[in-house]
Amino acid sequence: MVDLPPSHKAHRRFPEILAFTLSSPVRRLFNPPEQLVRKLELKATDVVIDFGCGTGFFTIPIAKLAGRTIGTDISSSMLEKVTSYAKRSCVTVEFVRSDGTEVRLEDRSVDVILLVHVFHEVENRIMVLGEFSRILRLSGRLIIVENTHGGLFSGRFGPPIIDKMDVIQDVERGGFACVETIPHRNDSIIICQKKA
Ligand SMILES: C[S@@+](CC[C@H](N)C(=O)[O-])C[C@H]1O[C@@H](n2cnc3c(N)ncnc32)[C@H](O)[C@@H]1O
Repeated sequence: MVDLPPSHKAHRRFPEILAFTLSSPVRRLFNPPEQLVRKLELKATDVVIDFGCGTGFFTIPIAKLAGRTIGTDISSSMLEKVTSYAKRSCVTVEFVRSDGTEVRLEDRSVDVILLVHVFHEVENRIMVLGEFSRILRLSGRLIIVENTHGGLFSGRFGPPIIDKMDVIQDVERGGFACVETIPHRNDSIIICQKKA
């Protein structure tokens, strides 16, 4: 696969020092994670990766619905935080540290890969999409959530505003097709599948 440049340059990584904001009561109040997770229509048999899981804001509600939940992050400090959150919440989550270029999972073993406010931070996007394609089942879904509409805290404190078409162009270059987009507050839920 040709490694074309991504449509938008990677934004800088979310600072670990601000990890507490990811699970803050303010975020929970204005954007309860269960509302987004419900829209993903997960099945009780699904194997789900929360890629770039951060402190586990979405990982824990996912683990309450999915058959097997795997939290992945490039940052070991984030993975320490989500591990203790999962323990406190009495849910089973597996953790895999990865930047996405190599994910230690079997070929075609995953039903859903979710990235919430992460895709814009990924640098080797085409390589990472290639790895996603390897581990996703044929019917699997790659679900990218980005802030496409702004909002009160966007830019300064919240996630940057991303052009939905840039994401769609990148996933297409990486061998995926966008099959549906669902609005969710200031975000777009971009659902993609492997091209036939
Ligand atoms: C803005 S936070 C979002 C965290 C979580 N998805 C949420 O919404 O609460 C972005 C996360 O992506 C992780 N990340 C950035 N680039 C990554 C990469 N290439 N591979 C894995 N994780 C990455 C960061 O370490 C950080 O935890």
